[in-house]
Amino acid sequence: MANDKELDFLWFIPSSGDGTYLGTDKLSRTADSDYFAEIARAADRLGYSGVLIPTGVACEESFVLAANLAAHTERLKFLVAIRPGTASPAYYARLASTLDRVSRGRLLLNIVVGGSAQELAGDGIFLPHDERYSHAEEFFRVFNDLIETGHAHLDGKYIQAHHATLGVPPVQQPRPPLYFGGSSDAAIDFAGGLVEKYLTWGETPAQVAEKIARVRRAAASRGRQVTFGIRLHFIVRETDEEAWEAADSLISHLTDETIAAAQEVLRGQSDSVGQARMLALHNGRRDRLEVSPNLWAGVGLVRSGAGTALVGSPKTVAARLREYKALGIDTVVASGYPHLEEAYRVAELLFPELGIASPIGQLRSSFGQKQVFGGGGHGGNVKVSAAS
Ligand SMILES: Cc1cc2nc3c(=O)[nH]c(=O)nc-3n(C[C@H](O)[C@H](O)[C@H](O)COP(=O)(O)O)c2cc1C
Repeated sequence: MANDKELDFLWFIPSSGDGTYLGTDKLSRTADSDYFAEIARAADRLGYSGVLIPTGVACEESFVLAANLAAHTERLKFLVAIRPGTASPAYYARLASTLDRVSRGRLLLNIVVGGSAQELAGDGIFLPHDERYSHAEEFFRVFNDLIETGHAHLDGKYIQAHHATLGVPPVQQPRPPLYFGGSSDAAIDFAGGLVEKYLTWGETPAQVAEKIARVRRAAASRGRQVTFGIRLHFIVRETDEEAWEAADSLISHLTDETIAAAQEVLRGQSDSVGQARMLALHNGRRDRLEVSPNLWAGVGLVRSGAGTALVGSPKTVAARLREYKALGIDTVVASGYPHLEEAYRVAELLFPELGIASPIGQLRSSFGQKQVFGGGGHGGNVKVSAAS
C-alpha cells in the first residue's frame, strides 16, 4: 500500500572492510573503529535514522562495535545483528538491555540465524537449516520474556533456561524491536510468528511483492502484522549516465577468475535460500547485471548477502524506491562503496527527492542569506540573496 510517510532510511557499517573497487585491494582502506566512527557520525549528521551492523566471522563483533559507536553519536539508532546460539538468550538479554541503556534507547535488533553450516559449526551450532529456526523460536521465547518482564523459564528441546532473571530493563518498552531477514519457508514462518519488521535483500519488485505476501499470510494466520524493509546498495549520481559509469567502475578491477572463485565459495558454503535467490539473479555473468530497470546485481558477483544496487540519477532512483514503497516497504537499509563518501552522496542527492529532512541544510549565513561554496577569494564564500 502506498502512503505519503517518508521512508525510514538507514545506512551500513562495513565492519568487514571497505574500499572503492570490488574484488581487489586497490584503494581498499583500513576499516577500523575510528573509520566506523566517522561513518556513524556522518550518518548521524546527514539524517539517516540508523545503521545496520552485521555479524559473521569476518566482521567486528556487532554489540561491542555498536556500544562504541553509540558514544560517538547523538540520535542514530543501531540495528545490531544477533545470532541465536552464539551465546545464551539470558546473556544476550543482558547485552541488549545494557546496550539499549548506554545508547539511551537506540537499539534495534536484527536476528541473523545464519546460512553457512561451516561458519555456524565454528560457533558450536550444528543444526540443519530448518531446525535453526525452531531453535531460534525457543531462543526468543526466553529472550523476550526476560527482557520484557525480568523473568523467564524454559525447558525446551534446544534451550534450557531455569528461572532466569534480568536485573536492569532496557530503556525501550517493552523491548527493542526485532528485525529479521530470511527467504526459506522456515524463515517466513518464523517471521510471521515473531518479528516486527521483515527485511528482504534487494530483489526485483515482483519477487519482493511475492515475499511480502507470504510474510503477511504467515503473520495473519497468527493474528499478527509485520512491517517491511529492503536492504540495497546505492549508486546515485547527478545523471543516469554518470551513475552507470560508477557502477562499471566499481567492478572494473574484478577479474573473471575472482568472480568464479567467489561464486564457488558462495554456492558451496551456504545453504541459505536467500543467498541462492541473490545468486540466481545473475548466475555469475557480468554481461546481464541489470536484472530489473535500474536494479544492478554487480555487487553480488563477489559479495555474499546483499548483492544488488539501485543505479541512477536521484529522480530515477527515487522513482524505483517509490515502486517498492507501493508494495509495502517502509524502511531502507542502504550502503555504497566507499561507505563514508557514499553516505554523503545518497543524503545530498537522494534525500531531497524522497522528502527526507537532513539536519544539516544548505550553508547559511547568520543573516538569512545563502552562501555559495567556492565563490569567494581567499577561501571565502560568496553571499547571495536567500531567494536565489
Ligand atoms: C537484511 C539482512 C541482513 C542480514 N545480515 C546478516 C549478517 O549480518 N550476517 C549473516 O551471517 N547473515 C545475515 N543475513 C542472512 C540471514 O540472516 C540468514 O542467515 C540467511 O539468509 C538464511 O536464510 P534462509 O532462510 O533464506 O535460508 C542477513 C539477511 C538479510 C535479509
